[in-house]
Amino acid sequence: MRTNQHLRTMAAGAAVLALALSACGGRDDSESGGGGSGTASGGSGGFAKDSVIGVSLPQKTSENWVLAENLFKTDLKAAGYKPNVQFANGGVTEQQNQISSMVTNGAKVIIIGAIDGSQLNTQIKQAHDAGAVVIAYDRLLLNSPNVDYYVAYDNYKVGQLQGQALLDGMKAKKPNGPYNIELFAGSPDDANAKVFFDGAMSVLKPKIDDGTLKVGSGQKSFNQAVTQGWKPENAQKRMDTLLSNYSGSKAIDGVLSPNDTLARAILTSTKSAGKPNPIVTGQDSEVESVKSIMAGVQYSTINKDTRNLVKQAVKMVGELQSGGKADTNDTKSYNNGVKVVPAYLLPPQIVTKANAKQAYANDPTLSKITG
Ligand code: BGC
Repeated sequence: MRTNQHLRTMAAGAAVLALALSACGGRDDSESGGGGSGTASGGSGGFAKDSVIGVSLPQKTSENWVLAENLFKTDLKAAGYKPNVQFANGGVTEQQNQISSMVTNGAKVIIIGAIDGSQLNTQIKQAHDAGAVVIAYDRLLLNSPNVDYYVAYDNYKVGQLQGQALLDGMKAKKPNGPYNIELFAGSPDDANAKVFFDGAMSVLKPKIDDGTLKVGSGQKSFNQAVTQGWKPENAQKRMDTLLSNYSGSKAIDGVLSPNDTLARAILTSTKSAGKPNPIVTGQDSEVESVKSIMAGVQYSTINKDTRNLVKQAVKMVGELQSGGKADTNDTKSYNNGVKVVPAYLLPPQIVTKANAKQAYANDPTLSKITG
């Protein structure tokens, strides 16, 4: 079976570099089954089992990062390593300094969830020069040859699932269009934001073009839809402004939201404007959003179980530790502007009230909410 790979573009930093990430082509599933070794050049030559492993995480813009911190500490320690796990709550400069000090401390692998994927080139070159392997975690590192691996949920698929959920949710409420919608994207310095948006627009744009969907504000481009810093207050403010296009009884049927934190901010805005709740998408399976979904307010989220993503990253560290290359299942999709970064992509799952119980059956926290 072949699946289509789509042209993926990403915006990087203030310069908004549009990078053609992958031309249309085919992906043969025999290459993507997860069993085969990747073609990465990122072999490590092996290192001692009790080595320092650095993990640099961005700001705590969503619950998944907080969960990742604890899981990395526990899982790396359990495997015998010395984890050095840090957040860069202060911003890009803090993250740059953290990575440099991980290099100085002799980290053999540095796993990075970047605040801004285009601002760490000097530090990851330092890491490489010192013989460390660099793994981009969740967010791709851009414009550098010194990125050995990428481990993430399939971001483009996340966007596609969000776009489809928006359509399904609105149709279930009102069988026939046209539907009035608004579009939100994540932070433009996060390489994922454009990929999520492009995935969603691959589903929504044909429906905008044929008149089924009407973007009330007319703001359809990524640059118009972005939410700086993934900050809920920015999304709420923008939604407040957009609602001026929905005066009187004009309904807003749906809002594309790239994650749960922003979904709740958007719903706060529509509520304070006295509008009935529109269909709003999300991502991350945050506790408050899962509660909201069960209460019939937020429509959907995405299940990207952080436990599995951290487990996969730690597994890669193990493969490098024993002297091999890390296993990858995608060597085509993620061109960072300089090279195609071999990736291990996990499958995201859409969650609505209808499948929440089953989706979170193995999650000790969320299964309590879904009953
Ligand atoms: C992650 C999302 C998260 C967002 C904001 C993205 O890079 O993939 O899961 O919602 O950052 O923290």
